[in-house]
Order: sequence, then C-alpha cells, then structure tokens
Amino acid sequence: MRTIFTTLFIFWGFLSAGAQTTDSLNLLPRPQTVKLQTGRFIISNKFAVGINGPGSPKLIASVNRFYVQLAKRTGVIFPQEYISGKENPADAQLAISYQKSINPVIGIDESYTLTVTPEKIALTATTDIGAEHGLETLYQLLTPAGSGFCCPAVEINDAPRFKWRGLMIDVARHFIPFEVLKRNVDAMAIVKMNVLHLHLSDDEGFRVESKVYPKLQENGSNGLFYTQHQLKELVNYAHDRGIIVVPEFDLPGHCSSILAAYPFLASYPANYKPARRFNIDTIKNSSLGKIMQLINQVQTPTIDPTKESTYVFFDQFLREMSSIFTDPYFHVGADENNGVAWKQNPAIAAFMKAKGMKTTDDLQAYFVNRMHGIAQKYNKRIIGWEETFNATVPQDVIIQKWKPAAPADTLVKSIVGHHNQVIISAGYYLDMYFPAYIHYLTDPVPANLNAAAAEKGILGGEAAMWSELVDGGNEEIRVWPRTAAIAERFWSDAGVRSADDMYRRLWALDFELNDRAVNEYDSYIKILDRWVNDEELNTAITLCNVYTQVKGYKRLMAAILSPGEVHAKTTLTTPLVGIADAVHTDSETGWYFRQLVATYLDKHDAASLEQIKSQLQRWQSNKARFNALAANSPYLQQIADLSDNLSNAAGIVLQALNNEGNKDDQLKQLQQLEKPRHEVQLAIGQSLEALVTGKLKPEPAAYSMF
Ligand code: ACM
Repeated sequence: MRTIFTTLFIFWGFLSAGAQTTDSLNLLPRPQTVKLQTGRFIISNKFAVGINGPGSPKLIASVNRFYVQLAKRTGVIFPQEYISGKENPADAQLAISYQKSINPVIGIDESYTLTVTPEKIALTATTDIGAEHGLETLYQLLTPAGSGFCCPAVEINDAPRFKWRGLMIDVARHFIPFEVLKRNVDAMAIVKMNVLHLHLSDDEGFRVESKVYPKLQENGSNGLFYTQHQLKELVNYAHDRGIIVVPEFDLPGHCSSILAAYPFLASYPANYKPARRFNIDTIKNSSLGKIMQLINQVQTPTIDPTKESTYVFFDQFLREMSSIFTDPYFHVGADENNGVAWKQNPAIAAFMKAKGMKTTDDLQAYFVNRMHGIAQKYNKRIIGWEETFNATVPQDVIIQKWKPAAPADTLVKSIVGHHNQVIISAGYYLDMYFPAYIHYLTDPVPANLNAAAAEKGILGGEAAMWSELVDGGNEEIRVWPRTAAIAERFWSDAGVRSADDMYRRLWALDFELNDRAVNEYDSYIKILDRWVNDEELNTAITLCNVYTQVKGYKRLMAAILSPGEVHAKTTLTTPLVGIADAVHTDSETGWYFRQLVATYLDKHDAASLEQIKSQLQRWQSNKARFNALAANSPYLQQIADLSDNLSNAAGIVLQALNNEGNKDDQLKQLQQLEKPRHEVQLAIGQSLEALVTGKLKPEPAAYSMF
C-alpha cells in the first residue's frame, strides 16, 4: 500500500542486504526454479503475442486480459487489437504454447516453463491452466526501468507443491457481495490458488437462491443472498481462471437459518430464526472454561438425521445445487455438533439404541454416510470438517482439519492412515488476526507424517475467512494481501521460508493485487474518509498505518472475556466501521520501520538515524492535525487516545535518541502506551522499544488464541 503511505519514509538500502534467496525478483508465489540470465526484455510497441495450442477460449480471454493490463501498466500502445490465437503474428515477441485445454480439476498438470531473453519470451505448458499460471508469473517480472518497463532475462520452471490451494470465505455470518467474491477470485488467480470454498449457510444466514425450497433464502436470510444466475456466473468466472468452486452447506449443526425455513427438519421444536447459535450476551462475566462448557452442553439447532424425510429433502436440494455448482465436491460442514439436541430427543435416542449406536458421533457418522450416498448420485465427493472423521467414514470423503493442534497431534496421521485425504486449514484462520508470517511459517504437513504419507494424504490447504467481524466493506482488507503468503506456502517448495523475503515481495504484490483485482486500498480509504467527513485523509492514514488488531479471538470473544471493556461486534447489524475493522493485520509501515531500526542498530549510521528521527517527528506532530479534524469528527474523538499515544510514544523515543531522560522510565512509559485500546495495538512497539534499549527483539514465534 505504498502509494498512500504518505508519511512513510521509504528506505530501500536494506532490501538487497536482507535478501536470503537466490534472486531479488518480486515473484509470489516463488517458483520451483528461477535462473536469472544476463540482459532484459524491454516492453515496446512491438510487443505482439502468439498462442499455439488446440484452442482454449479461457486462455485466449486470459491472454487478452493480460495484454490490456500490461498496456495499462506500461502506458505502451501495443500492436494487436486483440489476440485470437488464430492469426499469430510471425514476429510475436511472446510465444505461448500448450498441448491441452482442460476444465479446472484438482490434480491436473499446472506446470509451465517461462524463458525470457532480450529478444523474446517463450511460455510453454502442458495445459492451458498451466499457461495461465505462467502469464501471472510473467506479469510479476515486469519492472519499471528508467524510461520504460522491462522483464529480466530468466528461465523459470514451475509447478505447485500441493494440488489443493484454497480460500474459504464465510458469506453466511455477514453477507459478502457478489462483486467482492469476483474480485477475490481475480486475486486468487494472481497467486495461483485454485479452490474457492464458499461457506454458504450457517446459523446466521442462508445465502443461495433455491427454487425448489425458496423459503431457504426467504426465511433463512435477511434478504441478502446470491441468485442462481449470479452463482453460475461466478462458477464460470472462476473456471476461466483455473479455479473450482466448492459449496458448503453446514449440516447437521450450524443450521438455524435452514430450520427457520423448514422446521420439520429440526431435532426439537422451536421458533427458529437466522441468528447466532448462542446468545453470548447472557453469559457475560464468564470464563473461557465456562464458555466451552456451554458450547458442549447447550442444545443447539440441529437437523434430525433419523427421519427419511430429511434425506428426501437433501436429495432434492443436492440435485438442485449440483446444477449450479458443477465441480465434483460438496462440503457438508459437520463441525461443532455437540449432539445434545439428539440426546434430549427420546425418538432420536430410541433410533440410536435400535441401530446399536453408542454415541452421537455414531449418529453423525450415519448422517454423513447417508449424505455420501446422495452425493454419489450427483457425482460429488463429500468434504467435511475434521469432526467428520471416524472409523466408518467412506475413504473418498475428504476431511478438512481446522482445530489448532499440538505437534504431537495424531489426527491427521490417523486420517491418512485410514486412506482419507486431508485439506489443512489449521494454521490458516485469517479471523485470528495473526500476521502473515505466522501462517506462512506453518507447513501443511504435520511433523509426524512421513513424505510418502503426506504425498498420498495431504491434498493441500485452505485459508479460512470467517465473517463474524467482516463484511463487504472490509473483507478485502482482511483477506489480502495476507492470503498471498498462505498461497505461497501451498504452491512453493517447503524450503522457501524466509519471512523477511516473503514480506519484501508481499508489499510489491499488494500493489499488483490492488491494481488488478481487489479493492483493499479503497475499502480502507472509504472507512477513514467516513470518519473525517471527506476532509483531509493523511492524518487518519498516518495513525491507522501503525495500528493492528489485538491478536487471537480476544475481539470476537470480548463481550464474554472482558465484559464492560469492549463489546464483541458479532451481530449482523453492528457496523464494522471502526479502527479495528479498517486496519490491516500486518502493518507495512511497521515492517519498513522495523527494517530501518534493525539497520540502524546494526550500523549506527547517520543516514538511518536521520530517517528514523524524521519519521518519529511525523508521528509526534500528527496529533495536532488529528485534534483539529476531531473537532468535527465523532469517531476521531472516540479514538483520540490512540493518536495521543502515538505522539507520546514517538516523543519519548526522540528524547531517548537525544540521550535525554531515564531509559528505564522511558521503556515503562512506552509499554503503557502500547497496551491494546479500541481492539487495536501499536504495530511499531518493538521497534520503538529497541530504539530505547538498543536491542530489537525477534518477532514472536506464536500468539495465543485468547
Ligand atoms: C470451524 O471453524 N468450526 C470449522
């Protein structure tokens, strides 16, 4: 987000100094092999493109998008009106060749080879989807150089490490508008992800138009849902970019919205509404232990799996949904069903007894097996969250691991041992507000799995964006660019693990993501602009650029864990428009400042010191302008303490750098100023402290969830 970081003092010197990799290119995900050659290809008005292959409408569309985008980025007027693949120019400077056109399917050949010389560029791939990936890499080679743009001469061979590289978006808790989904798909294509998993129903909402069961969207939502027409368009849009779409309807728990529409499916009679499963406001002043107890002991809306009418319903439902979601997967959720609703219903208890089922887990397994039978009729493979796994689960069911696990956890090993395949989401939950490096350094393969078992059993992974605290106004800020770091974990070699090098490339990529795909910058500006009533923005940007959310589920659970202090914003109508909603989970300004501080502490050079002081002065003086704007801004008034704290913290460090004051006192004061407020905390705390103590602490290896 460099362009709007108006107060960021950019310091480039450390970039080459800190690089630990074989090249300084900004490719993300990093390809399997990159061999830099001498020279460079200059983008000129002779840049023509030829495509050789059996014919692929999606590749032709991709190449045309690439061509127009490249023209926009470089400002060069290119020679071709459009590229058809039929009239290839003899002197094409970019020659694309591929052997097969295929629909996106998990496990297809996605490899490509890209050779850039000063004279021409060759992109070859087995499949059109591989060629699409190669185009994305080529775009990332583009470098501004003096009076024009060029690509360095290079030889790249690339293929993904994992077959399944997904992003799950919860559209149930808060509805995520259709156009936002499409922009996410554009961003996924840039970082070579290939699965969009939509969490389409949960207690809070049912988000798909059903013509067979129209009450699902009528009674199960607040009027916000996707039409079938939109979803078909989305599926085609994703397929054109090499991405499949996996629908999830969360069953047999997490289904208040479905029961609000069709209460005959319920395990107990109630006045069902689309709403949160638990009224957490009633358990204020509670402890985490009590919450867990509640979650395990309270009857929650659950499908009755013992009635044949349930399966008649879901057979018709799957049939209808299969005509929209044409990829061969159907996710049934199956998470967090505590079984209490089943235990308390005598008819269900009798059914279990008659069938010899000892636990409600056995009954859930029965439900999943019945759904498996229905899914087979429509050529779908079932996916379920990790609670789906048990001894009787069919081997073609894919299990999605989500609960954070200790290294010794054997669940994934057991699943793979049972010959089921696994998608890993544990470690990739974006709603925990962990910085990108935490996810990046989490490998999908558990340490206790050998290479052969991992190869067979781990399909890949999925980043997961749950939407209790996210809506159309901030989804893109929360998901991007962090998800790109996760995309690299799923695509690139396991040994590519330098967090600093990842961040260096991530900031460059963020510009591309915003230029070509998402409205992450715009969403941020929109929220801040509302605070200042369309007055000057820089002051709010300066402030927000150095704050990030408190980490873990503290914010989501705030109403329970810290009643009175802050309130969890988890209702459908709570506006997500405050500082914790607006800011990025990784502070780019904070990252650059940390690099600058590290350089200074290493070299004690005058140039770094000068830049540090200049930046501190900007932070210190931001307060005066902030206060002037706050006179007419109710929201700025609310967060004036954050502005004061930044100013005071910068002032303390300036004093310390001038060798004034007592360092112990300064450190204590800084630590006070860094404490979380308004659900955010200073992202530059460690760097500020380091300027007082002379020692920069390493970034934490982990953060706690609560
Ligand atoms: C989940 O997070 N309950 C899958």
